[in-house]
Amino acid sequence: MESKVKELTAEVGGVSITNPEDAEQFRLKYLSKKGILAVLFDEFKTLAPEERKVVGKQLNELKQLAEQKFAQAKDLSSNNGSSAKESIDHSLPSEPVDLGSRHPISLVRTSIVDIFNKIGFTISEGPEIEDDWHNFGALNFPDDHPARDMQDTFFVESDYAEKWLLRTHTSSVQVRVMKNQKPPIRTISPGRVYRNETISARAHCQFHQVEGLYVDEGVSFADLKQTLYYFVHEMFGEDIKIRFRPSFFPFTEPSAEMDITCIICEGKGCPVCKQSGWVEILGCGMVHPKVLENCGIDSNKYTGYAFGMGIERITMLRYQIKDLRLFFENDMRFLSQFKSVL
Ligand code: PHE
Repeated sequence: MESKVKELTAEVGGVSITNPEDAEQFRLKYLSKKGILAVLFDEFKTLAPEERKVVGKQLNELKQLAEQKFAQAKDLSSNNGSSAKESIDHSLPSEPVDLGSRHPISLVRTSIVDIFNKIGFTISEGPEIEDDWHNFGALNFPDDHPARDMQDTFFVESDYAEKWLLRTHTSSVQVRVMKNQKPPIRTISPGRVYRNETISARAHCQFHQVEGLYVDEGVSFADLKQTLYYFVHEMFGEDIKIRFRPSFFPFTEPSAEMDITCIICEGKGCPVCKQSGWVEILGCGMVHPKVLENCGIDSNKYTGYAFGMGIERITMLRYQIKDLRLFFENDMRFLSQFKSVL
């Protein structure tokens, strides 16, 4: 029997299994209940004890070898593309991942923030639900100012004595910063603001602003102009012209509005600039001494400037977008055009 087992071991070792049919043949011949190994094990039981010791070991090795061969063959067939259902061809290129795009308002907000960061402005934020004092009172709005009117401001119903509202401008963040920090202060505050406006191509009930604030000893209107010149040239290029018009805000004195060359018609006159060649992009001025005092800053020692610009307006100019409502509609045909800008 010993030589028989040896012969069979060599035979099994030499079998090559290349397909599932061969594997099944192999199993039937050697490993099934009536296969060669089962017969050998039956025969083994009849041997004398001394013989069993030698043959038992060899027989077990043969069995292991046969089982191993069969297991390997099974592995082979489950990995084999032609017979397995879920085959994967690793040589194929992967499916392209469709990246999203940034919203144009986010893109422009990031550029504005980057431009001011370069000259040392920090970023500050404030809440969108504000109290009357931060949005109006501290900023020197008289109690009967029309901006407080229900038609301009969204008030929030509340049980508190204080009036709560959706902030109508980011100037409320100026107040929070001045109350909490000591000069020198040099900061910008980007954020969303709300006004009770009829929605049209040029106005919306929600939009975005960036506020700028610089308070220190000896800050002048010349500093304000210089900073805004720098900003416009970084944002739109060196060829863009700038002009200031006198204006009024309760929290700045003197106050101005700033226009730049209409980017769409390059100053020649078009419907966007109402044929004037100029478009307004921001309001600004020297922080009113009363506002400094309201926030606990000595107005004899310190002066400051502030400005506030609409991000939608800047974005419309930068990408030549004619209708403000597009920013809020989330139409993929519009948004996906900004992919290349990433
Ligand atoms: N808060 C003003 C607005 O919303 C803009 C502004 C900011 C003007 C700072 C002057 C100084 O129109």
